[in-house]
Amino acid sequence: MKHRFVGILVLISGLSCTAAWAADGKVGYPDGYRDWHHVKSMVIQPGHPLENPFGGMHHVYANKKAVQGLKSGKYPDGAVLVFDLLKYNEGGSALQEGERKLVGVMQRDAKRFKDTGGWGFEGFAGDSHDKRLVSDGGKSCFACHAPEEKSSYVFSKLRD
Ligand code: HEC
Repeated sequence: MKHRFVGILVLISGLSCTAAWAADGKVGYPDGYRDWHHVKSMVIQPGHPLENPFGGMHHVYANKKAVQGLKSGKYPDGAVLVFDLLKYNEGGSALQEGERKLVGVMQRDAKRFKDTGGWGFEGFAGDSHDKRLVSDGGKSCFACHAPEEKSSYVFSKLRD
């Protein structure tokens, strides 16, 4: 009986973790983010200071908790922001979306990621859900986001 009880507990805690966390406690791939709130888009062209590595056309998405944060300035744990970076194709006086370069993710957990402002930073290469790009625990991502302290290290703003 005791064993069965422990088994159920393990099952429940396992289920509640999968939505937010990769099994190893790293930032998880943001499944379904294309259905989240679209915050903004931007095209970064050659010559812009962020050209390397963020040149291209990006869209920023926020899950429900991150929208709360964008409104209030305070992000609850579980808030996730996504920076979806695509190449663009130029022609006929238009810029069209091209293939995906990377998916950048900020995942809020104030305690777990306290060394990087309470955010876990990760990048996933191209269309991959498991090819990770961050190898320094997010320190270099955070270094550039750090000046945005007043908005909890988030650059993007909500607009109507
Ligand atoms: C050199 C500066 C710089 C570095 C390094 C950087 N970012 Fe950003 N990041 C920005 C800027 C500027 C924006 C706002 C872009 C916009 O306005 O569309 C941004 C936006 C974001 C967003 C959307 C939320 C927000 O703050 O607006 C995410 C998610 C993000 N970055 C993740 C990352 C990850 C993950 C890394 C590391 C792999 C990283 N960033 C490294 C400058 C940087």
